[in-house]
Amino acid sequence: MNLILLGPPGAGKGTQAERLVEAFGLVQLSTGDMLRAEVKSGSELGQTAQKIMDAGELVPDDLIISMISNQIDQHSDAKGVILDGFPRTTAQAEALDEMLSDKDLTMDFVIQLEVSEDTIVERISGRYSCAKCGAGYHDTFSQPAVEGTCDKCGSTEFSRRSDDNPEAVRSRLGAYRDQTAPILPFYTDKGVLQSVDGMGGMEEVFDQIKEIVAGG
Ligand code: AP5
Repeated sequence: MNLILLGPPGAGKGTQAERLVEAFGLVQLSTGDMLRAEVKSGSELGQTAQKIMDAGELVPDDLIISMISNQIDQHSDAKGVILDGFPRTTAQAEALDEMLSDKDLTMDFVIQLEVSEDTIVERISGRYSCAKCGAGYHDTFSQPAVEGTCDKCGSTEFSRRSDDNPEAVRSRLGAYRDQTAPILPFYTDKGVLQSVDGMGGMEEVFDQIKEIVAGG
């Protein structure tokens, strides 16, 4: 089973992908996480990507398309993949189609998380993660069981993303509206797009996604 999670920044794509990985044994392919790993490694791609990401703009299509194609190949024996943050432009959606047909794969579900802009700002401004294992938390909605200690690895160091500031968030929302939302009709026309109300709690949203996946 292969699926795409679509939605604006902070809609909960990563949060839901994590649950899908646990429940269905799928592999999460997050282009944002891949780019952040490149930035951390100091690679040429990472250096190019950092400035673009900090400005809240989109990294060039060709870099992203080859990165995701390699990752799909590397996980060819997985039960399926969750594309989180890809595709984000019409060119990426078209390239994905071609890639899937070349690799003899299908996309079973395209799930859009619908969340209001006020909620997005609230979610992004409270988000932080474990600096060691990357587990995600939120100041209000998802705190560690023991304050200041990661539930997953016990680390006491946390960090916040450099693009989670008001200016970059405004720009990320603009990029979503102008470049990503226009790909929704592409998937509506294919009859695979399903929308989920992303405003509820994390488990409520996950229940809706499970229903879609089970119904397919
Ligand atoms: P990326 O990392 O993909 O960022 P994004 O799309 O902006 O999405 P986020 O990771 O911010 O949010 P999310 O939807 O995963 O929400 P989360 O689950 O964390 O991309 C970053 C940058 O990389 C881009 O700006 C671009 O520059 C570049 N890039 C990446 N892919 C690219 C591509 N394909 N093409 C070109 N450039 C690309 O949730 C947010 C917070 O809310 C968390 O704290 C969480 O705990 C909380 N939360 C989640 N769900 C709920 C809920 N239901 N109730 C309460 N709280 C919740």
